[in-house]
Amino acid sequence: NDLYAVVGNPISHSKSPRIHSLFARETGEPVEYTAIQAPLEDFAGTVTQFFERGGKGLNVTVPFKEEAWNLAKRRTERAEKAGAANTLFLDEQGLLTADNTDGCGIVRDLVDNHGVTLAGARILVLGAGGAVRGVLGPILAEGPASVTIANRTLARAEALVSLFAPVAGAARLDACGFEQPTEPFDLIINGTSASLQGDLPPLSPRVIGERTVVYDMMYSLQTTTFNQWALEQGAQIVHDGLGMLVEQAAESFRIWRGVSPATLPVVEQLRND
Ligand code: ATR
Repeated sequence: NDLYAVVGNPISHSKSPRIHSLFARETGEPVEYTAIQAPLEDFAGTVTQFFERGGKGLNVTVPFKEEAWNLAKRRTERAEKAGAANTLFLDEQGLLTADNTDGCGIVRDLVDNHGVTLAGARILVLGAGGAVRGVLGPILAEGPASVTIANRTLARAEALVSLFAPVAGAARLDACGFEQPTEPFDLIINGTSASLQGDLPPLSPRVIGERTVVYDMMYSLQTTTFNQWALEQGAQIVHDGLGMLVEQAAESFRIWRGVSPATLPVVEQLRND
């Protein structure tokens, strides 16, 4: 079997080994996929060792995505813009290559799995950290009417606006604080880690209209804190990030194996695990 792994710290909670073994079973690909906890001070050594031992590909998770990006000798265009990498492999010349499949993952989940139209949509994105930077490029590529980035620290949202303005096309791209928007959006994406501290971004309830789709990049067994809030404000459609997690994994699998696994049965299986 060809060997793959996810590297993070901590790593025991990772769903990637489960997801990729379901993909392997479904496609019949000879893939073995494990989890590796890298020491915080030696991510590079862990990666080098993995590939020296014949490993074929790595996924990278918290807190190493930026380091993976730095370590790589080559980056795909989407990884370049994302400033972080979640997928590593060796190219034909044996050079460590970085890709980022997170943005592709959220777009596939929204568009293909949930039937959300991003073209022409007015989108509110909450947060301006690595998670948001990782997905903005692919979202803008779908041709939304506008993307408003709201963040606790305004300067970080403004920095993302500057960075992504060149790829915004016809989309209006702007930055603001959480309290500022007071009109309903077509789509609200929560990319903050506020719920990890049991917090909610202090948004006006008026950002939620009857047809607003709410997407939390986080996922949990129960409805996420943010989605619970949105439902209480009258949102009719809320999704968590489990589909995104499976879609980004599927895109990595496709990069490594040239085969696209079906994702919906895997999402369903994970909900039942
Ligand atoms: P990640 O990789 O998850 O994006 P990050 O780069 O640390 O991690 O970014 C976390 C994001 O969640 C940021 O937008 C952060 O806001 P700041 O830029 O103001 O720090 C946001 N965030 C974290 N805790 C939050 C909270 N309690 N309330 C609101 N926003 C929060």
